Amino acid sequence: MKKNFLNLGKQPLANSFLPTNSKKILSKEFFYNLNVAFDTKTFLVSVAKPVNPEFQYTDQYAHRASESITMRNSFSKIANKLNKKFSPKIVMEIGSNDGVFIRNFEKRKIIAVEPCKNLARLTAGKYKTYPDFWTKSLAKKIFRKSKSADVIFSANTISHIPDLKQTFEAIESSLSPQGVLVIEDPSLLSVIKNNSYDQFYDEHVYVFSAIAISNVIRKSNLRLFDAEKIKTHGGSLRYYICKKNAKYKTTNNLNKILTEEKKAKLNQFKTYKKFSKKVKQSKNNLINIFKKLKKRNKKIISYGATYKSSTVFNYCNIGTKYIDYVTDTTLNKQGKFTPGKHIPIISPEKGMNESVDYAFLGAWNFKKEILKKEKEFIKRGGKFISHVPSVKIISS
Ligand code: TMP
Repeated sequence: MKKNFLNLGKQPLANSFLPTNSKKILSKEFFYNLNVAFDTKTFLVSVAKPVNPEFQYTDQYAHRASESITMRNSFSKIANKLNKKFSPKIVMEIGSNDGVFIRNFEKRKIIAVEPCKNLARLTAGKYKTYPDFWTKSLAKKIFRKSKSADVIFSANTISHIPDLKQTFEAIESSLSPQGVLVIEDPSLLSVIKNNSYDQFYDEHVYVFSAIAISNVIRKSNLRLFDAEKIKTHGGSLRYYICKKNAKYKTTNNLNKILTEEKKAKLNQFKTYKKFSKKVKQSKNNLINIFKKLKKRNKKIISYGATYKSSTVFNYCNIGTKYIDYVTDTTLNKQGKFTPGKHIPIISPEKGMNESVDYAFLGAWNFKKEILKKEKEFIKRGGKFISHVPSVKIISS
């Protein structure tokens, strides 16, 4: 049974940046109710009523995974590790985005699947790329003959697909007998610990735990045998999954993670009720900080036009009254307006100037990278505001 525990209100699609703020465009903007639910049987946490993926993963999709050094490094590291550990002949990536992972492999080894046509076009010239959603019929089409994949990799994608049953069944039928599925997604334990409620948005249909993943894949003849904690997206888990009868033994690392999740009571509804109270408190604290700073005539901007800041701004009703503009390095976000709150987005070169007093860390998951980059801003007295793990002004 699914039980709702968090209501983040009316939300737009978090990656749907608006080309203009004309009345005509704004009146057509799509909103949905973002309720988050807990499944008392599988312990899966999900958006109660997911949005149709056809609306989300279009040829206008803005997110580019290679935009940050942190992600580029993370993908090249895991690519080398998978090559060494499993010596795969065929590697398939589900959700290949702009090719940040596959570019670490020889062309002949790669099959890429990417439903956003604008992104698929970026890799199609060099790698075999299917511009489609991952489904059973696509799996059949790709592996029509006897070929199968030795490694299937998918980062920040499986959690975006509403139909997990079909997803894992299609993976099971595409893996070689000793093949390995490696997925990484934000970790539910990190979300609870960091109070990072902004990991919930239209694309994160699920925020997984190891407990829930192991329950869900069992139905598709798959088995979780290893997991590791990684730092990306504010704390993620990387899961290693094989066919039920494959040779891999359950690792100590996985057992440790499962024990930690049980200790944190991720399999109990009351944990989520407590979390929901803390989220409301975080909202009040953030609004209070913005109000106080505005009373003192401070100029506040936001750093990184992220899906996370979209959830925060829409949930907390923070718009241009508080935030002058958002800076972002992504060229196709610049010149546009944030979803729902319609705050203009400009480049950091233009935006991070002398007049800025405070910058809200919309990309808090890249805090280290950003603080290093923005030494000048900090040196002249500029300050960052973050809401994770609790609302505060960061002074150095
Ligand atoms: P993500 O959290 O969804 O990966 O998005 C991060 C966004 O933040 C992406 O649009 C790029 C932007 N960004 C900056 O503008 N400056 C930075 O220094 C970093 C690391 C990211």
